[in-house]
Amino acid sequence: MRIAIAGGTGQAGTQAALAARARGHEVIVLARSEGVDLVSGAGAAAALDGVDAVIDASGVRPGDDPVTFHETVVHTLAGAAPPHLIVLSIVNCDRAGEYPLYAGKLAQERAAEAGGVPFTIARTTQLHEFAAQVWHMGTRGPLHFSPRMRTQPVAVREVGAHLVDLAEAAPAGRAPDFGGPREESLVEMVRGYARASGAGRFVIPINLGGAFGRAQRDGTLLPEPGAVHGTETFDDWLTRVFLDR
Ligand SMILES: NC(=O)c1ccc[n+]([C@@H]2O[C@H](COP(=O)([O-])OP(=O)(O)OC[C@H]3O[C@@H](n4cnc5c(N)ncnc54)[C@H](OP(=O)(O)O)[C@@H]3O)[C@@H](O)[C@H]2O)c1
Repeated sequence: MRIAIAGGTGQAGTQAALAARARGHEVIVLARSEGVDLVSGAGAAAALDGVDAVIDASGVRPGDDPVTFHETVVHTLAGAAPPHLIVLSIVNCDRAGEYPLYAGKLAQERAAEAGGVPFTIARTTQLHEFAAQVWHMGTRGPLHFSPRMRTQPVAVREVGAHLVDLAEAAPAGRAPDFGGPREESLVEMVRGYARASGAGRFVIPINLGGAFGRAQRDGTLLPEPGAVHGTETFDDWLTRVFLDR
């Protein structure tokens, strides 16, 4: 198959590209660094010519409005009338209040549904790398904060393979959720990351406010029954990335 991957240079898109190439597919990477801007549309029509499937694993950059970004990207992709559009979304992004990134994912899903091309919505949980992102985002001088959150993190490598599985299959509408093998506490993940990476400092749990903070804490962002699960646990990931070097 000829598979285009929007955001094919990002965390998830890179892994989808690796999985697709390993299975013998031809991969077209759609990213600004590859000369394709899916917001302005520059370079998109030529790159999308003749594709069998498009995976949308694009993500916002600082300054982008998530809703406008995702609606525009899906509009650009659907405009090329691919036989199958797969969008990478987040589990229960529609139940987490008005958090901008999640509002963007919901807008992406709705744009895919309204786009007039056969589609699959691939909702996944947070990635193991989320622990590192929270560690860096939650640093204030010598202090490190992490929101309390119930999460079922998944390996990005398995997300990439899952996206290619979906591209190889028929359009499915909303696919079952995809998540990691077990539930974790985000605070403990961030502590584990800090220890394993050698940062080793104290992490202070906090509650984020509003509906999004509640959704983080009450299990709303865990995969739904019937979900498909990857196999690599967060501890496996820490061992692979930091301890097996
Ligand atoms: N991280 C998570 O835990 C998680 C979990 C589930 C779902 N998701 C969702 O999955 C998606 C991918 O996440 P990620 O962490 O892999 O993202 P990422 O690493 O930030 O990568 C974003 C990708 O989008 C591309 N991009 C940005 N603006 C573009 C534009 N105007 N035109 C074309 N390409 C553009 C970037 O390439 P250039 O900069 O070269 O353009 C890059 O390849 C996001 O929408 C995210 O919300 C993330």
